[in-house]
Amino acid sequence: MIHIENNGRRSFLFSAAAFAVLPLVPGCRPDVSAQTDASDVRRRLLQNAISDAGCEWCGARDVPETVAAKAVIAGSEEKGERLIISGRVFRSDARTPAPNTLIYLYHTDLEGIYGRGSEHKHGRFRGWLLADAEGRYEFETIKPAPYPAGRTAAHIHMTVTTPETREDWIDSILFEGDSLITARERASRKGGFNPILTLERKGGVLAGIRDIALPRA
Ligand SMILES: [Fe+2]
Repeated sequence: MIHIENNGRRSFLFSAAAFAVLPLVPGCRPDVSAQTDASDVRRRLLQNAISDAGCEWCGARDVPETVAAKAVIAGSEEKGERLIISGRVFRSDARTPAPNTLIYLYHTDLEGIYGRGSEHKHGRFRGWLLADAEGRYEFETIKPAPYPAGRTAAHIHMTVTTPETREDWIDSILFEGDSLITARERASRKGGFNPILTLERKGGVLAGIRDIALPRA
């Protein structure tokens, strides 16, 4: 497990397939192919990240050097209900795992605000995940609040970027029982599956599953 400090927020990064340490086999030379593959994945992901500074929802371009399948977005010092979201990323057929998919996510704070002052426009609750060999990912954060105007349901934005396809947004994660969810949001399936999660409480932590089917290229 690797701990890094990022903008004052601690992230726990777990070793994942693509950017892992080189395996060493006694008596053998280092497996340079693993490193080459990892750097190639990163290069292709960055090529497919949207670089247009005017893009409001993009964030893959800011992916840190080290990214993993699991991350903590909100440190334990943050107030709010702890929330763990996990799931799997599949190709557009909704069946074939899509490893090495880069997920970028961000959400508001407890007052429904993104960036404050000098913070990034998406705020401090933002992060990146790299789906593992089975397409799995998981992040821990706090449950966000609706915008202050109170007309938009609480949500978590997500984009997906793969080594083969450009960064694209998918339906935001929403939470069942939120009266602000619209009929249009209930009907949308950009990203496959149901983005409106029914949360379960497990040991004081809310948990939900958001599987993803990649948009067709
Ligand atoms: Fe939003």
